[in-house]
Amino acid sequence: MIEQTLSIIKPDAVERNLDNKIKSFFEKNNLKILKSKKVKISKEEASEFYKVHQTKPFYNDLCNYLSSGPIIVMVLEGENAVLNNRKLMGATDPKKAEEGTLRKMYGLSIDKNSVHGSDSVENGKKEIDFFFK
Ligand code: CMP
Repeated sequence: MIEQTLSIIKPDAVERNLDNKIKSFFEKNNLKILKSKKVKISKEEASEFYKVHQTKPFYNDLCNYLSSGPIIVMVLEGENAVLNNRKLMGATDPKKAEEGTLRKMYGLSIDKNSVHGSDSVENGKKEIDFFFK
């Protein structure tokens, strides 16, 4: 099924100018970039975006981090886009990510893991609305 998902290139990857490499990786792997913009969000916006994690011990650091520098938010579309994107990203912790995945190639740590992707079609819709409505 053709789906849409939200992808974020996080501050660590934007800072290292990895955006074009990451975008062409998506395009080569059947994910079309329908929308893309560079933004810098506030801590409050990051806290709203990541509110599903609000009870987690890493929540505060996570929100500080996402709001620490420019990010690139994208709407990706393709066959099974949610799962495809998650496979292309690899495990959350770059140390555990498989060879050939974005987080293995570019991730620096579990916090600075270069990319975010929606975990379901339903959350994808919410996350796309968050940035593009
Ligand atoms: P992301 O896919 O953006 O979703 C939430 C983020 O929290 C995750 O990537 C990680 O960068 C970050 N994070 C930090 N610590 C942890 C942890 N212990 N487990 C899961 N995610 C974590």
